[in-house]
Order: sequence, then C-alpha cells, then structure tokens
Amino acid sequence: MDGRVALVTGAARGIGAATVLALVDDGWSVLAVDVAEDNPDLPYAMGSRDELEAVVAEGNRHAGDPGRVRAFVADVRDPAAVDAAVLAAEHIWGGLDAAVAVAGVIAGGTPLWQMPAVRQQAVLDIDLGGVVSLARAAVPALLRRPEPRSGRFLAVASAAATRGLPMLAAYCAAKAGVTGLIRALAVELGSTGVTANAVSPGSTATSILDESARIYGLADAKAFAAQQPMRRLLDPAEVAAVLAFLAGPGGSGMTGAVVPVDGGLGL
Ligand SMILES: NC(=O)c1ccc[n+]([C@@H]2O[C@H](COP(=O)([O-])OP(=O)(O)OC[C@H]3O[C@@H](n4cnc5c(N)ncnc54)[C@H](O)[C@@H]3O)[C@@H](O)[C@H]2O)c1
Repeated sequence: MDGRVALVTGAARGIGAATVLALVDDGWSVLAVDVAEDNPDLPYAMGSRDELEAVVAEGNRHAGDPGRVRAFVADVRDPAAVDAAVLAAEHIWGGLDAAVAVAGVIAGGTPLWQMPAVRQQAVLDIDLGGVVSLARAAVPALLRRPEPRSGRFLAVASAAATRGLPMLAAYCAAKAGVTGLIRALAVELGSTGVTANAVSPGSTATSILDESARIYGLADAKAFAAQQPMRRLLDPAEVAAVLAFLAGPGGSGMTGAVVPVDGGLGL
C-alpha cells in the first residue's frame, strides 16, 4: 500500500484512531481528521486535540517516518471544512485513494418524541450528514486519480442500522441511512474503479459505548458483552482491521457491502 493516501474522520480516539494505525501499518499515508472539541449539544466529551496529536505521533512512530500521518481539525457537519480536509490530503500527498467516515456520536435515553431537538439534530447531522459530506467531498477526489483506479469510500455504520434499539431511535435512523447511502453510492460508482462499503460494529470498547451504558443506566460498558454471542466487547482494532482489509487489495471485489464486525450481535 506504499504511496496510497487515506483520510479518516473521527481519528482522535476509538475506532477512528485504530483505523489510522491499521492503515499506517499497511503502508498508507493518512490524514487524521477530528472535530477535536466538545459538542455543547451532547453530555459527554468528544476526542481532544491532545488525543488527535497522540494518534499522529503514534502513527508516525509505527511508520518510522514523521510525515506519514498528519492531523486536520474539521467538523464533519461543515461541508467546507470537509472539502478543505480532502484538498489538504491531495495537496500533501498528491491524491486520495481512500476516505473512511468513522466520526460519530450517540445520544438518546428517551423515546424519540421526548428527545431534545438539538441532540436529535446532532446525531442526524454527524452520523448521517457527516458521511454524506465526506462522500460529496471525497468521491470527486477519488475519481481524480487516473484510471485504472482502486479508490475506496468506507463508512462505519452500526448493528443499530438493522436492530430497533429503544431510546436510540435517531441513532438507529442515522446508521440505517448510512447503509442506504453506501448501497446507492456503490451503484452510482459502478465501473469507475472506486467502491463504497461499510462495516457495522457491535459493542466495541470506546467512549461511545461508555456513553451508551450511561444512557441505559448500566454500571459500565462491560454489561453490553452479555448481549453479544461472543460474550465480550470488541476491541477497536478488530473493527479497524476489517476497514483496512476493505481499503486494501483484498477488498477489490466488494462494493455496496455492509460487513458486520459485531461478535454476532446482529444474529
Ligand atoms: N463503540 C461502539 O460500540 C460502536 C458500535 C457501532 C458503531 N460505532 C460507530 O463507530 C464510530 C466511531 O465511534 P467510536 O466508538 O470510536 O467512538 P468515539 O467517541 O471514541 O470516537 C468518535 C470520534 O468522532 C469524533 N467526532 C465527533 N463528532 C465529530 C464531528 N462533528 N466532526 C468530526 N469528528 C467528530 C469524536 O471527537 C471522536 O474522536 C461511530 O460512527 C460510531 O457510531 C461504534
């Protein structure tokens, strides 16, 4: 994968951070994008600037090259900022081969009709709108690579895309939206050499799962292990490994797929 260039959103921690490291280990150069500040509409912390810089430093340490991972602060709700991130990756490394939409938030804890409107909007705008924004900005860049191409648009959906999770209706709607988007995008991209795929994680040990535990009034996130047939939480690296596979040559025959990486949660 040497010479290949990826952009990953939600890169400051969790699945996004693990994806940056998995791609670097496969030889990619990576623009690590995150909002890197708290969201006043949500009651839990987002990834921080320090965490984003730590991912960049760790990635460059893995690569043995101080320039293989760069940080870029952008809010995926802001199309101009997402455009700027894509242009930065092209400017730094000469093109873009993969865009990975990992950034996401969770909110809920009430039936939909009682959910504060600003929280509902944050979930829809980041979890679905942010993926749409990245697709709109990144697909033209993926298509700017000369033929024959092997571009990849990847998104993180969720087991929530297909399960009706009470108190998380907006999140379920946004994630189902991501899977619909990926399927349509795959057909639109057709024979261009650019593919679109998603992964649907189950309960994975990250800050989102900690917040989900709080939403459901559980003592801690480990309680979610019991609902997954594998009876353990996933590690973010296990989700990242599948994203890196899809980004690589092994994923060349796949498009429009939504791959469960869920310890059996969706069964
Ligand atoms: N952890 C799980 O159990 C689980 C399960 C299914 C799906 N997912 C999905 O995985 C993805 C990654 O989440 P995670 O579990 O690593 O959680 P996380 O909270 O650790 O990471 C999410 C990252 O997204 C960033 N982010 C939030 N809003 C943003 C915005 N507006 N613009 C740019 N960046 C923003 C945050 O700062 C944070 O660094 C999300 O899309 C989430 O919905 C997670």
